[in-house]
Amino acid sequence: MNMKELRELGKQKFGKACRMCPICDGRVCAGEIPGAGGVGTGQAFRNNIIALTEVKLRQRIIHSVHTPSTKFTLWGKTLTMPILAAPIGGIAFNWNNYIAEKMYADAVINGCKNVGSLGMVGDGKLPEIYQDGLHCIEAVGGWGIPTIKPRPNDQIIKLAKQAEKIGAIAIAIDVDAAALINMTVSGQKVGPKTYEELLELKNNISLPIIIKGVMEVEDAVVCAKAGIDAIVVSNHGGRVLDHTPGTAEVLPEIAAAVGDKMTIFVDGGIRTGFDVLKMLALGADAVLLGRPVTQAGAGGAEGISCLMNHMREELEAAMIMTGCQDLSSIGRHILYTK
Ligand SMILES: Cc1cc2nc3c(=O)[nH]c(=O)nc-3n(C[C@H](O)[C@H](O)[C@H](O)COP(=O)(O)O)c2cc1C
Repeated sequence: MNMKELRELGKQKFGKACRMCPICDGRVCAGEIPGAGGVGTGQAFRNNIIALTEVKLRQRIIHSVHTPSTKFTLWGKTLTMPILAAPIGGIAFNWNNYIAEKMYADAVINGCKNVGSLGMVGDGKLPEIYQDGLHCIEAVGGWGIPTIKPRPNDQIIKLAKQAEKIGAIAIAIDVDAAALINMTVSGQKVGPKTYEELLELKNNISLPIIIKGVMEVEDAVVCAKAGIDAIVVSNHGGRVLDHTPGTAEVLPEIAAAVGDKMTIFVDGGIRTGFDVLKMLALGADAVLLGRPVTQAGAGGAEGISCLMNHMREELEAAMIMTGCQDLSSIGRHILYTK
């Protein structure tokens, strides 16, 4: 399977839910939720793409980097790349029913694991969504990260204990789903978290905790103070608040404030290995891919492995072309600013 075949498969399977645009930038699908789009005008989704487009790389060719290493270490585990699959809940509902929820979770977990990457799975209005994701992670010996919606703390702690039991690598909480309508209309309470609530989670959960949806330095600082292990700089792919900046715009100040205290993930609009390199140069330790993985899911686990390998190869080429031997040698110096 290759990227061209994957695109063709997607075009056959997705219908109008995702038109497989040459560049997935949120213009054609603006406002389409359910669907692939960003909320409202879709500007927050587009801002992710625009922000990355505005970052320029310095081309370096006089050096000795021939075989760069993309190895990434996370809480004692070694990954072949700093590229993970983002959690996606409601794939059937949003993406023309092209795949059942559990089959998608299975494809993500296995497609990532088979190439040394790591997949995250989601939570939703139906309890089965979280449980299906957990079963898929359990089946591969814990190689995955379940994501829990920002439910009341007692519920989060209960779900996190289940993740601990199956040996998951960490748990994530997408606090940016604090006002998610599909949870509230189905009677599922979600909401933002205070410092005290984060502290309570940290004191009651033994796995590393990732808070997803941080877009402001102040929020990142509170997460760090509460002992949270990692954050995802994310606007949920532009699906929760219209008119936010792009994640690449806010990442540098957040990384400068808390990068030495916790692991920093970022997502939003990352479509190529060049984008991955830009995000690492702006201060991220690793990135998550959302829509590209949902599209690659058209080819099942094999399709997702194909995408992940393709992204890693592009990242390696970009590291050669900027003179970076390994992830620790990537920094602001490879970015072009006048
Ligand atoms: C259809 C769809 C469903 C999503 N569901 C979830 C979810 O259940 N939990 C979550 O944390 N993020 C969810 N996200 C957000 C992604 O995890 C990720 O933050 C976002 O897609 C990254 O942007 P990108 O798609 O431009 O790569 C969803 C995104 C999409 C497109």
